[in-house]
Amino acid sequence: MIKLNGIEKMTNEQKYKYMLILLEGQLSSEKNDLANLSNAAAIIKAVMDKLNWAGFYILRGNALVLGMFQGLPACNRIEIGKGVCGTAVATKAIQCIENVNEFPGHIACDSASNSEIVIPIIIGDIVYGVLDLDSPEIGRFSKLEEKYLVKFVAKLNQYIDWSKI
Ligand code: SME
Repeated sequence: MIKLNGIEKMTNEQKYKYMLILLEGQLSSEKNDLANLSNAAAIIKAVMDKLNWAGFYILRGNALVLGMFQGLPACNRIEIGKGVCGTAVATKAIQCIENVNEFPGHIACDSASNSEIVIPIIIGDIVYGVLDLDSPEIGRFSKLEEKYLVKFVAKLNQYIDWSKI
């Protein structure tokens, strides 16, 4: 059982370090990838404040297909190159969007979202999907969040067999 006691007293960096500890605990105690990704999304949503959506899209052919997430129901499929998520896949680059309302082609699954960060999930040369976080606050995501979310995905990559999700 995950304990979040005292988290409100932590700095953001302490929270993000704790998030990685929780993830390691989950991944080292369970082998099922679906369970692990479900709780990975839940860990992010529980620990990072000011989020309205956190989850995964998994690449299937030319489309990202909705994976495990926390938040309101979201778009089922996003084509490569479309929206913030599809752009992260097309460019193989992190997308940190201060104000999604100014991002051409942003896909508004939840109208509460005002900023977004998307970390592509890449091993070697192969893109397997993305980790997507949305916030109602403009400019919610900085280099600090990016640093720890990259570590979060790197940790997932050690355990998850993305080709079988
Ligand atoms: N806003 C994303 C779509 C996914 S939702 O945020 C969950 C995008 O533009 O790709």
